[in-house]
Amino acid sequence: MLDIVNLEVKYGAITALKGVTLSVESGKIVTLLGANGAGKSTTLRAVSGLAKVANGSIRLWGQEIGNSAPHKIVAAGVSQAPEGRMIFANLTVRENLDMGAYLRKDRHALHEDQEYIFTLFPRLKERINQPGGTLSGGEQQMLAIGRALMARPKLLLLDEPSLGIGPILVKAIFERIQEINKTRGLTILLVEQNAHMALKVAHYAYVLETGTITFHGPAAEIAQNEQVRKAYLGEV
Ligand SMILES: Nc1ncnc2c1ncn2[C@@H]1O[C@H](COP(=O)(O)OP(=O)(O)O)[C@@H](O)[C@H]1O
Ligand SMILES: [Mg+2]
Repeated sequence: MLDIVNLEVKYGAITALKGVTLSVESGKIVTLLGANGAGKSTTLRAVSGLAKVANGSIRLWGQEIGNSAPHKIVAAGVSQAPEGRMIFANLTVRENLDMGAYLRKDRHALHEDQEYIFTLFPRLKERINQPGGTLSGGEQQMLAIGRALMARPKLLLLDEPSLGIGPILVKAIFERIQEINKTRGLTILLVEQNAHMALKVAHYAYVLETGTITFHGPAAEIAQNEQVRKAYLGEV
């Protein structure tokens, strides 16, 4: 579905991505792991049209989307729950969800999707008229995922859904991520520093170190890789 080939992204004099190549197969959960500053968010931002591609290509079903306008990439079927969640603090839960659907015109299907999101995350339904800024971190993450789903994506990009959230909610959110993939067949590119959780739900994994992919393989194999275990799973 998604093919990134030799992707380079620069911020002024800093080369954040030095030729990243990765693929996401339709129907799979693929995780991109790496330490802080490795270039994970930059990769997702380039796919979403938010970071400028200096070199290389990003293809969605064979169509080049690198440096396309972000709204065109959303319309092509890619939506992102960004790092730090970026909830509209003064808008209610309902209004935040509506923001995810602003390109859509199919009112009836919109309502169905909102109901589906409430079955995934009942807490959001309980808080439907509450301002987004008053939700807990975990609830805001649920809202960010729900908002991204409201675009009815074919490919969902998740940037560190576990960041700053307690272990019980992290577990709940990862269970939902797996459920969305299994029941809806939604393809997911999951960026995480939390390698333990990500490798449990992903089919395939890539490891990014300072702008370069150093390992990739089926998640179960990457979880057994000795260097990965030492560097990312806290083992000696
Ligand atoms: N807007 C920016 N301007 C300059 N440098 C940036 C910017 N965003 C990210 N960087 C740098 O690019 C590198 C990769 O960052 P990022 O993609 O955010 O990493 P990660 O998400 O893996 O933590 C880091 O060295 C970071 O400091
Ligand atoms: Mg990041």
